[in-house]
Amino acid sequence: MQLPQNVRIVDVGPRDGLQNEKHIVPTETKVELIARLADAGLTAIEATSFVSPKWVPQMGDNAAVMAAIERRPGVSYPVLTPNLKGFEAALAAGAEEVAVFGAASESFSQKNINCSIAESLERFRPVTEAAHAAGVKVRGYVSCVVGCPYEGPVAPEKVAEVAATLMEMGCYEVSLGDTIGSGNPVNIARMLEAVMKRVPVERLAGHYHDTYGMAAANIYASLQMGVSVYDASVGGLGGCPYAAGASGNVATEDVVWLLNGLGIQTGIDVERLVDIAAWISTVLGREPASRVARAVLAKRAKAACSS
Ligand code: HMG
Ligand code: MG
Repeated sequence: MQLPQNVRIVDVGPRDGLQNEKHIVPTETKVELIARLADAGLTAIEATSFVSPKWVPQMGDNAAVMAAIERRPGVSYPVLTPNLKGFEAALAAGAEEVAVFGAASESFSQKNINCSIAESLERFRPVTEAAHAAGVKVRGYVSCVVGCPYEGPVAPEKVAEVAATLMEMGCYEVSLGDTIGSGNPVNIARMLEAVMKRVPVERLAGHYHDTYGMAAANIYASLQMGVSVYDASVGGLGGCPYAAGASGNVATEDVVWLLNGLGIQTGIDVERLVDIAAWISTVLGREPASRVARAVLAKRAKAACSS
């Protein structure tokens, strides 16, 4: 199959990337991260989540983040909303796009949002109804699309069933989360094949965590099947508080580097992404996790030494 000519990237760094940080990241830093991502050409930036601050304290400043960000034309700032309470708070904070997040594994659903898969879908229905009534777009997530930290391998048909239900509720897109990074090109393709029987490929996004370094290979496999939207986090930030050992999302700069190499347009400047990865990693007191950021920074340092 011919690869897509254009790919849309959703940077989930400010939410998925920071939600698991032990020390509370100042609101100003989150706001600056979001502004820098828009400067680099990102048109979709997941800004925060309206979840319980008892469950995820790092996102407790959700309304303050939404109040402080500069909304650029052509850029969307989706936020996570697990229930109606979260949706109402997001709406009051001026969110124009929200995301509901379910799972294909019962144990992960219980650990992450304290209810079964069926109960979660019942909770999402009033959220999607209220969102549509308010003119707010809704994205859907399915977590654990190939593996679960508690149950092991997950059946592709289960993923397809949850994805199809989210679609039927009116989600404009369903993002397929390899939450613990246990995907490889074979099990990802098997999962996509099952999902694509129920949901058109134009409505699917890949959300791959890079725990074992397989995310770029999984994106390449997904591109070959026609998926043209990918979630990523600058600097490879992240991890899920309810999936121990899971690393961050695939780094945005790694994805853009791959797509540039394949001649696929993203509208995103990879050099600026590397600057952001270096900056946010310094703020968090660590080296950038991504191979591309490390390689580009090393090359820049060498060039600076020899000039
Ligand atoms: P619960 O304890 O069952 O909720 O948690 P509850 O309805 O029984 O309410 C308990 C308390 O929470 C009450 O307060 C509610 O008001 C409050 P209290 O009376 O005790 O003071 N509450 C809320 N507060 C703020 N915002 C809300 C909200 N809802 C209730 N929206 C709940 C259920 C869903 C709230 C909880 O489990 C939760 O917040 N979970 C979020 C977990 C989370 O954010 N996980 C990470 C994101 S998912 C992810 O990373 C995966 C993804 O990236 C894809 C992938 O990688 O696979 C998306
Ligand atoms: Mg995630």
